[in-house]
Amino acid sequence: MRNPLKHLKRASALGAVALAAFSLTPGTASAATTGPEPSPSVVGGTRAAQGEFPFMVRLSMGCGGALYTQDIVLTAAHCVDGSGRDNSITATAGVVDLQSSSAIKVKSTEVLQAPGYNGTGKDWALIKLAKPINQPTLKIAENTNYNKGNFTVAGWGAAVEGGGQQRYLLKATVPFVDDATCKAAYSELVTGEEICAGNVEKGGVDTCQGDSGGPMFRKDDSGQWIQVGIVSWGDGCARPGKPGVYTEVSTFAKDIKAGAAQLGG
Ligand code: ARG
Repeated sequence: MRNPLKHLKRASALGAVALAAFSLTPGTASAATTGPEPSPSVVGGTRAAQGEFPFMVRLSMGCGGALYTQDIVLTAAHCVDGSGRDNSITATAGVVDLQSSSAIKVKSTEVLQAPGYNGTGKDWALIKLAKPINQPTLKIAENTNYNKGNFTVAGWGAAVEGGGQQRYLLKATVPFVDDATCKAAYSELVTGEEICAGNVEKGGVDTCQGDSGGPMFRKDDSGQWIQVGIVSWGDGCARPGKPGVYTEVSTFAKDIKAGAAQLGG
Protein backbone atom coordinates (compact mmCIF):
# COMPACT_ATOMS: atom_id res chain seq x y z
CA MET A 1 0.00 0.00 0.00
CA ARG A 2 1.15 3.49 -0.62
CA ASN A 3 1.10 4.64 2.92
CA PRO A 4 2.40 1.88 5.12
CA LEU A 5 1.05 3.57 8.17
CA LYS A 6 -2.43 4.12 7.06
CA HIS A 7 -3.71 0.63 7.41
CA LEU A 8 -1.88 -0.12 10.54
CA LYS A 9 -4.09 -2.70 11.97
CA ARG A 10 -4.43 -4.81 15.00
CA ALA A 11 -3.18 -2.15 17.24
CA SER A 12 -3.44 -4.29 20.30
CA ALA A 13 -1.96 -7.35 18.75
CA LEU A 14 0.97 -5.39 17.48
CA GLY A 15 1.52 -3.78 20.81
CA ALA A 16 2.19 -0.16 21.26
CA VAL A 17 2.37 0.92 17.74
CA ALA A 18 3.28 4.47 18.28
CA LEU A 19 1.66 5.53 15.17
CA ALA A 20 -0.81 7.86 14.37
CA ALA A 21 -3.51 8.22 16.31
CA PHE A 22 -6.03 9.11 18.54
CA SER A 23 -9.40 8.19 18.43
CA LEU A 24 -12.79 7.85 19.61
CA THR A 25 -14.20 10.91 20.99
CA PRO A 26 -17.19 12.52 22.16
CA GLY A 27 -20.61 13.00 21.38
CA THR A 28 -20.51 16.50 22.63
CA ALA A 29 -19.40 19.57 20.81
CA SER A 30 -17.65 21.02 23.78
CA ALA A 31 -15.59 17.95 24.37
CA ALA A 32 -14.85 17.74 20.70
CA THR A 33 -13.51 21.21 20.55
CA THR A 34 -11.63 21.64 23.77
CA GLY A 35 -8.92 19.10 23.16
CA PRO A 36 -7.39 16.71 25.62
CA GLU A 37 -8.65 16.76 29.15
CA PRO A 38 -7.53 14.84 32.20
CA SER A 39 -10.49 12.54 31.98
CA PRO A 40 -10.37 8.87 32.87
CA SER A 41 -11.26 7.86 29.37
CA VAL A 42 -11.23 9.25 25.87
CA VAL A 43 -10.49 12.81 25.02
CA GLY A 44 -13.93 14.22 24.89
CA GLY A 45 -15.16 10.67 24.50
CA THR A 46 -17.83 8.88 26.38
CA ARG A 47 -18.49 5.32 27.39
CA ALA A 48 -21.22 3.42 25.66
CA ALA A 49 -23.92 2.03 27.93
CA GLN A 50 -24.31 -1.73 28.27
CA GLY A 51 -26.66 -2.79 25.48
CA GLU A 52 -26.53 0.52 23.63
CA PHE A 53 -24.79 -0.95 20.57
CA PRO A 54 -25.49 -4.67 20.93
CA PHE A 55 -24.18 -5.47 17.45
CA MET A 56 -20.62 -4.38 18.37
CA VAL A 57 -17.94 -7.04 18.30
CA ARG A 58 -14.33 -6.99 19.42
CA LEU A 59 -12.03 -9.24 17.39
CA SER A 60 -9.00 -10.89 18.94
CA MET A 61 -6.50 -9.54 16.42
CA GLY A 62 -7.28 -6.08 17.77
CA CYS A 63 -10.05 -4.86 15.51
CA GLY A 64 -13.72 -4.07 15.80
CA GLY A 65 -16.63 -5.42 13.84
CA ALA A 66 -20.40 -5.55 13.70
CA LEU A 67 -22.83 -8.45 13.55
CA TYR A 68 -24.09 -8.55 9.97
CA THR A 69 -25.96 -11.72 10.83
CA GLN A 70 -25.80 -13.53 14.15
CA ASP A 71 -22.97 -15.67 12.85
CA ILE A 72 -21.23 -13.33 10.42
CA VAL A 73 -19.16 -10.31 11.48
CA LEU A 74 -18.52 -7.44 9.06
CA THR A 75 -15.05 -5.96 9.59
CA ALA A 76 -12.19 -4.43 7.58
CA ALA A 77 -10.15 -6.32 4.96
CA HIS A 78 -6.96 -5.00 6.53
CA CYS A 79 -7.87 -6.76 9.79
CA VAL A 80 -7.63 -10.23 8.23
CA ASP A 81 -4.97 -12.16 6.37
CA GLY A 82 -6.91 -13.37 3.36
CA SER A 83 -9.79 -15.71 2.65
CA GLY A 84 -10.41 -19.30 3.65
CA ARG A 85 -10.74 -21.51 6.69
CA ASP A 86 -9.62 -19.74 9.81
CA ASN A 87 -10.20 -20.85 13.39
CA SER A 88 -7.80 -18.33 14.87
CA ILE A 89 -10.07 -15.37 15.53
CA THR A 90 -12.17 -14.94 18.65
CA ALA A 91 -15.15 -12.59 18.54
CA THR A 92 -16.25 -11.07 21.84
CA ALA A 93 -19.76 -9.64 21.99
CA GLY A 94 -22.64 -8.76 24.26
CA VAL A 95 -20.66 -6.54 26.60
CA VAL A 96 -19.12 -3.09 26.79
CA ASP A 97 -16.55 -4.43 29.29
CA LEU A 98 -14.24 -6.86 27.54
CA GLN A 99 -13.34 -8.37 30.92
CA SER A 100 -16.93 -9.00 31.92
CA SER A 101 -17.74 -12.57 32.92
CA SER A 102 -20.87 -12.32 30.80
CA ALA A 103 -18.93 -11.68 27.60
CA ILE A 104 -19.96 -13.95 24.73
CA LYS A 105 -16.90 -15.40 23.01
CA VAL A 106 -17.11 -17.33 19.78
CA LYS A 107 -14.38 -18.58 17.44
CA SER A 108 -14.22 -18.00 13.71
CA THR A 109 -14.46 -20.78 11.15
CA GLU A 110 -13.89 -18.92 7.90
CA VAL A 111 -12.87 -15.52 6.57
CA LEU A 112 -13.85 -13.81 3.35
CA GLN A 113 -11.67 -10.86 2.46
CA ALA A 114 -13.07 -8.44 -0.14
CA PRO A 115 -12.32 -9.80 -3.60
CA GLY A 116 -9.60 -7.69 -5.22
CA TYR A 117 -8.46 -6.12 -1.95
CA ASN A 118 -4.93 -4.79 -2.38
CA GLY A 119 -4.57 -2.24 0.39
CA THR A 120 -6.35 0.61 -1.36
CA GLY A 121 -10.14 0.83 -1.07
CA LYS A 122 -12.34 -2.28 -0.77
CA ASP A 123 -11.56 -2.44 2.93
CA TRP A 124 -14.18 -4.93 4.05
CA ALA A 125 -14.23 -8.56 5.11
CA LEU A 126 -16.64 -11.08 6.61
CA ILE A 127 -15.87 -13.51 9.41
CA LYS A 128 -18.04 -16.59 9.82
CA LEU A 129 -18.52 -17.68 13.44
CA ALA A 130 -18.67 -21.21 14.79
CA LYS A 131 -22.08 -20.51 16.29
CA PRO A 132 -24.57 -17.65 16.30
CA ILE A 133 -24.36 -14.86 18.85
CA ASN A 134 -27.79 -14.07 20.20
CA GLN A 135 -27.62 -10.30 19.83
CA PRO A 136 -29.28 -7.82 17.46
CA THR A 137 -27.56 -7.37 14.12
CA LEU A 138 -26.73 -4.12 12.31
CA LYS A 139 -28.22 -3.64 8.88
CA ILE A 140 -26.07 -2.11 6.18
CA ALA A 141 -26.83 0.83 3.88
CA GLU A 142 -27.75 -0.38 0.40
CA ASN A 143 -27.81 3.05 -1.22
CA THR A 144 -26.21 6.44 -0.65
CA ASN A 145 -29.23 8.02 1.05
CA TYR A 146 -27.65 7.95 4.49
CA ASN A 147 -24.16 9.02 3.45
CA LYS A 148 -24.65 12.38 5.13
CA GLY A 149 -25.35 13.93 8.51
CA ASN A 150 -23.87 12.85 11.81
CA PHE A 151 -22.56 9.36 12.39
CA THR A 152 -21.86 7.34 15.49
CA VAL A 153 -18.61 5.42 15.81
CA ALA A 154 -17.68 3.02 18.57
CA GLY A 155 -14.77 0.80 19.49
CA TRP A 156 -12.21 -0.43 21.98
CA GLY A 157 -9.30 1.17 20.13
CA ALA A 158 -6.88 3.83 21.29
CA ALA A 159 -8.36 6.84 23.04
CA VAL A 160 -5.50 9.09 22.04
CA GLU A 161 -3.08 8.92 19.15
CA GLY A 162 -0.48 6.33 20.09
CA GLY A 163 -2.47 5.25 23.15
CA GLY A 164 -3.45 1.83 24.41
CA GLN A 165 -6.52 -0.24 23.73
CA GLN A 166 -9.57 0.23 25.87
CA ARG A 167 -11.32 -2.14 28.25
CA TYR A 168 -14.66 -0.39 27.91
CA LEU A 169 -16.43 0.43 24.66
CA LEU A 170 -16.22 4.10 23.74
CA LYS A 171 -18.45 6.04 21.40
CA ALA A 172 -18.32 9.33 19.57
CA THR A 173 -20.25 11.36 17.04
CA VAL A 174 -18.55 12.45 13.81
CA PRO A 175 -20.00 14.59 11.03
CA PHE A 176 -19.93 13.57 7.38
CA VAL A 177 -17.10 15.11 5.32
CA ASP A 178 -17.74 15.48 1.60
CA ASP A 179 -15.48 13.83 -0.97
CA ALA A 180 -13.94 17.06 -2.25
CA THR A 181 -12.91 18.18 1.22
CA CYS A 182 -11.60 14.74 2.07
CA LYS A 183 -9.74 14.39 -1.21
CA ALA A 184 -8.03 17.69 -0.47
CA ALA A 185 -6.77 16.13 2.76
CA TYR A 186 -5.88 12.78 1.18
CA SER A 187 -4.97 12.64 -2.51
CA GLU A 188 -5.03 8.84 -2.38
CA LEU A 189 -8.69 8.75 -1.31
CA VAL A 190 -10.82 6.40 -3.44
CA THR A 191 -13.95 8.50 -3.43
CA GLY A 192 -16.34 5.84 -4.74
CA GLU A 193 -15.21 3.33 -2.15
CA GLU A 194 -14.44 5.48 0.87
CA ILE A 195 -16.46 7.94 2.93
CA CYS A 196 -14.94 10.40 5.36
CA ALA A 197 -16.08 11.76 8.69
CA GLY A 198 -14.67 13.94 11.40
CA ASN A 199 -14.26 17.47 12.58
CA VAL A 200 -12.05 18.84 9.79
CA GLU A 201 -11.59 22.27 11.30
CA LYS A 202 -10.69 21.38 14.82
CA GLY A 203 -10.07 17.67 14.92
CA GLY A 204 -10.57 16.17 18.35
CA VAL A 205 -13.10 13.49 17.43
CA ASP A 206 -12.17 10.36 15.55
CA THR A 207 -11.68 6.63 15.54
CA CYS A 208 -8.13 5.37 16.01
CA GLN A 209 -5.85 2.34 15.98
CA GLY A 210 -7.77 -0.71 17.13
CA ASP A 211 -11.13 0.65 16.04
CA SER A 212 -10.58 -0.61 12.51
CA GLY A 213 -13.26 -2.87 11.20
CA GLY A 214 -15.85 -1.40 13.52
CA PRO A 215 -18.97 0.22 12.18
CA MET A 216 -19.82 3.85 11.51
CA PHE A 217 -23.59 4.12 11.69
CA ARG A 218 -26.60 6.42 12.07
CA LYS A 219 -30.36 6.23 12.36
CA ASP A 220 -32.40 5.63 9.23
CA ASP A 221 -35.79 7.17 8.52
CA SER A 222 -37.50 4.50 10.59
CA GLY A 223 -35.25 5.20 13.56
CA GLN A 224 -33.18 2.03 13.18
CA TRP A 225 -29.41 1.93 13.23
CA ILE A 226 -27.90 1.51 9.77
CA GLN A 227 -24.22 0.99 8.97
CA VAL A 228 -22.73 3.42 6.44
CA GLY A 229 -19.02 2.89 7.07
CA ILE A 230 -16.27 0.58 8.31
CA VAL A 231 -13.34 2.10 10.21
CA SER A 232 -10.42 2.01 7.77
CA TRP A 233 -7.64 4.59 8.10
CA GLY A 234 -6.53 8.15 8.71
CA ASP A 235 -3.43 10.25 9.19
CA GLY A 236 -2.98 9.98 12.91
CA CYS A 237 -6.20 10.32 14.84
CA ALA A 238 -8.39 13.34 15.37
CA ARG A 239 -5.88 15.70 13.82
CA PRO A 240 -7.29 18.92 12.42
CA GLY A 241 -7.58 18.70 8.65
CA LYS A 242 -7.33 14.89 8.74
CA PRO A 243 -10.74 13.25 8.92
CA GLY A 244 -11.23 9.53 9.45
CA VAL A 245 -11.62 7.42 6.33
CA TYR A 246 -14.24 4.66 6.28
CA THR A 247 -15.17 2.00 3.77
CA GLU A 248 -18.30 3.22 1.95
CA VAL A 249 -20.64 0.38 2.84
CA SER A 250 -23.36 1.25 0.32
CA THR A 251 -20.86 0.77 -2.53
CA PHE A 252 -20.22 -2.81 -1.42
CA ALA A 253 -23.65 -3.77 -0.11
CA LYS A 254 -24.29 -6.22 -2.94
CA ASP A 255 -20.84 -7.77 -2.63
CA ILE A 256 -21.23 -8.07 1.14
CA LYS A 257 -24.59 -9.75 0.71
CA ALA A 258 -23.17 -12.16 -1.87
CA GLY A 259 -20.16 -12.85 0.34
CA ALA A 260 -22.38 -13.65 3.30
CA ALA A 261 -24.43 -16.02 1.15
CA GLN A 262 -21.20 -17.72 0.18
CA LEU A 263 -20.40 -18.20 3.86
CA GLY A 264 -23.75 -19.79 4.39
CA GLY A 265 -25.38 -16.75 5.86
N1 ARG B 1 -6.24 1.58 10.70
C1 ARG B 1 -6.69 1.74 12.05
C2 ARG B 1 -6.93 0.39 12.71
O1 ARG B 1 -6.49 -0.58 12.15
C3 ARG B 1 -7.87 2.64 12.12
C4 ARG B 1 -7.44 4.02 11.98
C5 ARG B 1 -8.54 4.97 11.93
N2 ARG B 1 -7.92 6.25 11.94
C6 ARG B 1 -8.62 7.38 11.95
N3 ARG B 1 -7.95 8.48 12.06
N4 ARG B 1 -9.92 7.40 11.89
O2 ARG B 1 -7.40 0.27 13.81
